[in-house]
Amino acid sequence: MSTLLTGVLMYPLIRSLFFRLDPERAHELALRVARVALRAGRIPGVRGLPAVPRRLMGIDFPNPVGLAAGFDKDGDAVDVMDQLGFGFLELGTVTPRAQPGNPRPRLFRLPEHEALINRMGFNNRGAGALAERLAHSGYRGVIGVNIGKNRDTPPARAAEDYAQALGQVYRVADYVTVNLSSPNTPGLRDLQHEGALRSLLYRLNSERQRLAELHEKRVPLVVKIAPDWQGGELDATLDVLLEQHIDGIAATNTTVARPDVAGAPNADEAGGLSGRPLREQAEAVLEQVVARARGEVAIIGIGGLNSGADVARRLELGADLVQLYTGLIYHGPSLVQEAVRASASHSHRAA
Ligand SMILES: Cc1cc2nc3c(=O)[nH]c(=O)nc-3n(C[C@H](O)[C@H](O)[C@H](O)COP(=O)(O)O)c2cc1C
Repeated sequence: MSTLLTGVLMYPLIRSLFFRLDPERAHELALRVARVALRAGRIPGVRGLPAVPRRLMGIDFPNPVGLAAGFDKDGDAVDVMDQLGFGFLELGTVTPRAQPGNPRPRLFRLPEHEALINRMGFNNRGAGALAERLAHSGYRGVIGVNIGKNRDTPPARAAEDYAQALGQVYRVADYVTVNLSSPNTPGLRDLQHEGALRSLLYRLNSERQRLAELHEKRVPLVVKIAPDWQGGELDATLDVLLEQHIDGIAATNTTVARPDVAGAPNADEAGGLSGRPLREQAEAVLEQVVARARGEVAIIGIGGLNSGADVARRLELGADLVQLYTGLIYHGPSLVQEAVRASASHSHRAA
């Protein structure tokens, strides 16, 4: 029996065992087990996946399906993720200084909705530590590094945190995502709005210029946005992103809304909701991004991608690349291969 088929048949069993554990413990344990299996030669790697090459932001992606930020914040499982068939990995969010994040429990399952709520709060070992680990890893695929601000940095100094983190990860990143959309760092999402956004991006562009000369490479900047917008706010934000010549837009992060989950266990937990209930909201935001920015920036579609059909639709709506997170928890690693196959059947109109 093929390994893929074994994986597809086994995953429901594995999932039911892991779902008996606290979600964060289960995540840590799953990655640890996978690493041991990899070292023992028990993860054979993906064979027979179609190449779906795309050149975006000056980067050659072997396929458009990526791992979303937050799954492997500190780059502990890059070697395992490399085996699953992803075209790129986005690590982080990392902040300039290590920080513990919010108290546990801070990750919750809503199984009947194939959803998660998290309020992790950027738990990470620091941008410098991630850069060190990546510099010594054997991974040669495309790496995005997602950066954020430390919780205890006052809003007035937020730009300095981003500039510092950019410098810390610059040499190891193929692109850097500026995360302005986590709902779990107080005040972070305010940086998405016009005035604050313009001055932040101005600062980051000049820091990038300095770093590009220092390292003799230009690293593209992507901005990751929230799904929660009112009135004309999103269009105003998109205008600033275009005016500041951002290379890419990642849409979206988790939602603070609770679409269709009212009454479910854990639905009232504070934090960001991801997975299936986010899908339509993320699609609507993507459509608005595509209408305003297509052809000028690379567009990464994220949120509620649970099947090959979801991925095909997101690409059809105009995403150049996609990323997975919650779908992996509910459907297992075979979702990556399903997504890559679905992307192969879609003809990409280059940005
Ligand atoms: C537990 C958890 C932690 C996350 N951490 C981050 C993070 O550190 N930075 C970030 O930009 N997004 C983070 N995200 C958001 C995901 O990258 C993604 O944008 C969101 O979950 C929507 O995709 P999904 O429905 O496929 O999960 C996190 C999501 C989850 C579930």
